Amino acid sequence: MERGGTISRDLLESVRDKIRQGLLPQWVFSDPDIYREELHKIFYRTWQFLGHESEIPQPGDFVTRWMVYDPVLLLRDTDGQVQAYLNSCTHRGSPLCVEDGGNKKTFTCPYHGWTFNTKGELIGVIAGNKVYGEEFDRSEWALRKIPRLEMVHGMIFGCLDPQAPPLLEFLGDLKWYWDILLGRTDHGVEVRGVPHRWVIRTNWKISSDNFGGDPYHTAMTHRSAVELGIAPKDPLYGSYGYQVVLDRGHGFIISTAPPGLQMPPYQGLPEVLWPEFERNLLPAQRSVFQKAVVMVGTCFPNLSWVSPMHGTGGPDEPLTTFINFRVWRPLAANRIEVWSWLMVDKDAPEDFKEASYRSYIGSFGPAGTLEQDDCEIWTRVVESSRGFMAQNKDVNYNNVLNYLMGLDRVKPVDDWPGPGVAYPTCFLDAISRSFYEHWAEMLLA
Ligand code: FES
Ligand SMILES: [Fe+2]
Repeated sequence: MERGGTISRDLLESVRDKIRQGLLPQWVFSDPDIYREELHKIFYRTWQFLGHESEIPQPGDFVTRWMVYDPVLLLRDTDGQVQAYLNSCTHRGSPLCVEDGGNKKTFTCPYHGWTFNTKGELIGVIAGNKVYGEEFDRSEWALRKIPRLEMVHGMIFGCLDPQAPPLLEFLGDLKWYWDILLGRTDHGVEVRGVPHRWVIRTNWKISSDNFGGDPYHTAMTHRSAVELGIAPKDPLYGSYGYQVVLDRGHGFIISTAPPGLQMPPYQGLPEVLWPEFERNLLPAQRSVFQKAVVMVGTCFPNLSWVSPMHGTGGPDEPLTTFINFRVWRPLAANRIEVWSWLMVDKDAPEDFKEASYRSYIGSFGPAGTLEQDDCEIWTRVVESSRGFMAQNKDVNYNNVLNYLMGLDRVKPVDDWPGPGVAYPTCFLDAISRSFYEHWAEMLLA
């Protein structure tokens, strides 16, 4: 990987200062130099989501994943411990495992046949002693471990920086809100099906920012939902609720029912789960959860979630909620691979789990209506950010985008029951400004 460095500190400082004024220079959406800086200063230093424990429940279960360009073999070893290795053989670097997932006790490299066990130990070398001699020490050629591996609510994260702060410190107050999404029931959530993947010609910041801080787009981008009668006509319907700005660029949005519209508590989740919410959540967490219709947000830099209430296909079927986590994996300055997991409460009834899955497929699955709306727009944003005018880095040139919504005008809620700074509307650029300010600070660090 070529190192970045062609972006001067002065330029980055001017970008940061503009962000603080609610202005974002458009060139950051497609500039290859800033992309290289992001890889080194953000993606190699932050915790990256690899998968959920429920994807590898048995010893020998494995899945293959990516941390941007680092291939990862994530597995449960024969002692039941979760391990993550660089999925690249220590002999000549071939990918060791080319399957998406499965169960194996050993992994044999397709190139020259070296074999490793689930502990990463090299246990088989074709013609070993004859070609390398008796003194060949196999223990020196074990698989390389991903430097850091930690878990919260069964969510497995890796980090390439051995010096990074622990995962819980990195998440900070976001953990309080993830308890509501992932830790509300006795046995937590499980992944249903396999993660879906698709490629979008966009920049990773655009999707992170859209999920993290932009309910303002819903009335227009998802206008077909209004025209079909499945979303309210009120152009402010996406504004009801709260934006919670959290440390380190994270954000959490709780959208609530419009005034006068009765929605079931707890996103209409089956009542059999409610006693579990009482057991597992604090009263303050329940008070936030009770009024939520949609929970959506981004864990800086590129892990987002959306938990809305959506139809399942039939005209008479009730709205059903789901939890969808997604990684916006950068492939280039103008390309991402989306990895999308559907999660459900393990303790939910089977018919609810199935309805939840269908609700996800129709809305935010790879061919879902809402997903298509977003993909199309994000692609066009990058397309229109490549030209001379949008790419002009002259600090005096007028090529900034508008992140001014609510700046100095909307005041935080003073009796918010949870951590973070909560604002009494979802139509606000507070989370986006905090996301980009943190982004600029990391590039400057
Ligand atoms: S590259 Fe794996 S055995 Fe040679
Ligand atoms: Fe959207």
